[in-house]
Amino acid sequence: MDNFTFYNPVKLIFGKGQLEALPNEVAAYGKKVLLVYGGGSIKRNGVYEEVVNQLSKINAEVVELSGVEPNPRVSTVRKGIEICKNEDVEFVLAVGGGSTIDATKAIVTGAKTDIDIWDIVTKKEQVNDALPFGTVLTIAATGSEMNAGSVITNWETHEKHGWGTPSTFPKFSILDPSNTFSVPRDQTVYGIVDIMSHVLEHYFHQAGNTLVQDRFCESILRTVIETAPKLLDDLENYEYRETMMLSGTLALNGMLNMGYRGDWATHNLEHAVSAVHDIPHGGGLAIIFPNWMKHVLDDTNTDRFKQLAVRVFNVEAEGLSDRDVALEGINKLREFWNDIGAPATLADYDIDQNTVEEMADKTVIARPEFGNFKKLSRQDSVEIFKASL
Ligand code: NZQ
Ligand code: ZN
Repeated sequence: MDNFTFYNPVKLIFGKGQLEALPNEVAAYGKKVLLVYGGGSIKRNGVYEEVVNQLSKINAEVVELSGVEPNPRVSTVRKGIEICKNEDVEFVLAVGGGSTIDATKAIVTGAKTDIDIWDIVTKKEQVNDALPFGTVLTIAATGSEMNAGSVITNWETHEKHGWGTPSTFPKFSILDPSNTFSVPRDQTVYGIVDIMSHVLEHYFHQAGNTLVQDRFCESILRTVIETAPKLLDDLENYEYRETMMLSGTLALNGMLNMGYRGDWATHNLEHAVSAVHDIPHGGGLAIIFPNWMKHVLDDTNTDRFKQLAVRVFNVEAEGLSDRDVALEGINKLREFWNDIGAPATLADYDIDQNTVEEMADKTVIARPEFGNFKKLSRQDSVEIFKASL
């Protein structure tokens, strides 16, 4: 494996009733709090009321930014930055999913500088400073609650970019699986696909001797595959929600990819689709990942695909060529995602060939080649998108 330094300072507070820890955690940073949330799910499921009640215990002075969009917009981030500056906010609390948390990471960074936040997101400028912030997670999906990454969309230019700094780790994240009971079936499916995709992005790497990491990845994939159908039949089951929530956090908190860099081409391709069409992240991944796999599979890398097929999808290798085992694993992934109701083609979102070139352009805005397991070019993007139509 490659040399590595692991650093993750997020205090993870997990389990039923853990929102009670909120007042003490916030009090360590100040009383003037900006509460950031999305389109209102937290008002419908009671989480908002509970958060406000907990904050009242320390007489916190709360200002709010609501309406953070799925695929959060830089325009909304700018509103949050304004509030922080005008109101002398001391601490920011994100209550919601990856979008709310990612927007918050941009808000806390923008609050500390006069540089425009889009220049930071696009890495033209670097600012390693941020207001302290914490999260109350309400959906199992991105892992944003325990990493420093953030993905922001500019709807004027149709660009969506990932960024992050050592200052954008949450100080704490509170994860009560019961707060995810109200996540609707389709969003639950998108979350499951995203979690599996993060593990798969790690899994496709070129480093040697990653025996421990491979088994970690495989155990999370097998656990998610086993739990997903049960959860989708019983959306308010605490144990299934608990398993999914922990899987989501572990899938992208840096633990699985110690000693190597995963591929991440599929995420780049999906962000390009979302930038043009504003589709749910997990929905886009479900369409693209199997097509990326078929596109990059060749004689030099069959082993990794074969290992996934045999260890995760129980493909019987005997009597089959290595390539056929690998392809069978890819088919099993496709079938699993079909079975849980994930989308399989871009046509499921009414996306046709007309925007293939535009989406391909977006995949190479930041760099001419992308993907670490196999380097891809703009032409590869066109071919993968066409296979996904
Ligand atoms: O906006 P509200 O009303 O809260 O509703 C949300 C939203 O409509 C709803 N929801 C969340 N919790 C709920 C709930 N509905 C009912 N009950 C609850 N408890 O779910 C919808 C989706 O929310 P969102 O936050 O957009 O979902 P997710 O967590 O999947 O985040 C997606 C965003 O994260 C980015 C994606 O690109 C996308 O922009 N990613 C961030 C990453 C990171 N920071 O590490 C990595 C990922 O790969 C990903 O790219
Ligand atoms: Zn993702």
